Amino acid sequence: MSTTTVFPATSSRKKVTTLALRQKKERGEPISMLTAYDYPTALIMDQAGMDSILVGDSLGMVVLGYENTLPVTMEDMLHHCRAVARGAKAALLIGDMPFMSYQASVEEAVRNAGRFLQNGGMDAVKLEGGHERVEAVKAIVAAGIPVLGHLGLTPQSVNQLGGFRAQGKTAATAKRLLEDAFLLEEAGCFGIVLESVPARLAELISHKISIPTIGIGAGVGCDGQVLVTHDLLGLFERFTPKFVKQYADLHEQMRNAFTEYMADVQAKSFPGPEHSVEMKDEEWEELLKSL
Ligand code: KIV
Repeated sequence: MSTTTVFPATSSRKKVTTLALRQKKERGEPISMLTAYDYPTALIMDQAGMDSILVGDSLGMVVLGYENTLPVTMEDMLHHCRAVARGAKAALLIGDMPFMSYQASVEEAVRNAGRFLQNGGMDAVKLEGGHERVEAVKAIVAAGIPVLGHLGLTPQSVNQLGGFRAQGKTAATAKRLLEDAFLLEEAGCFGIVLESVPARLAELISHKISIPTIGIGAGVGCDGQVLVTHDLLGLFERFTPKFVKQYADLHEQMRNAFTEYMADVQAKSFPGPEHSVEMKDEEWEELLKSL
């Protein structure tokens, strides 16, 4: 196993805040965000210098094996948020509010958002939707909890959208997306994820609003980018969206490692002496004599 990469010490990095993301937009510096669901991944991302880590409800698909994100519960989310919070100390940590944790009432939305900070170790929450979420966003923000909006392809509405498909491709739907972006900004969101929308629409929205846009399948004109880490690492083999750039093929590497391990076990070439614990000869002799 190679251990040559030296990362800067986590503690040497200042905590990233929502204000810092806003300042990055103002300076024209791209914001980096990825999803994480566990301690080791969060630790490595934080050491690599990631601006923000999203504990996405994509957890349901890439970690828990569900068909979509709808079955994910608050308890699932908080469990994984706590693991991520133990690993990442500097990145801005955002917990994704799962389906039906904010849709039924504004009170429930505020209470559940609060749990992400109180019980999940998160700094902020994300929720999906535009005009229909304005009251919930205002109330959560009024409670002192930063909110990241999410427009375009909103996976929790997959049944309403008729599948995982790009949004805002007509003049009318693009205009509604822009209006929703203005509404979320006005409601107090510190940023907005734009998922699967035409690149020039995302760029226009990014210029029109003063809060950062974080794109996923929305082109290079956004103020930052986010991807589902399992897609980027080639760890989720069920499907890979067109907008994903795969930086590694961990599926293949893990399968090879598991196959090699099994072969070593069969051949008794693992464990070797270097992987085994020994005892002193005199202790061994004494044991044998006593038998
Ligand atoms: O759940 C998630 O990972 C997300 C990102 C795709 C933005 O919402």
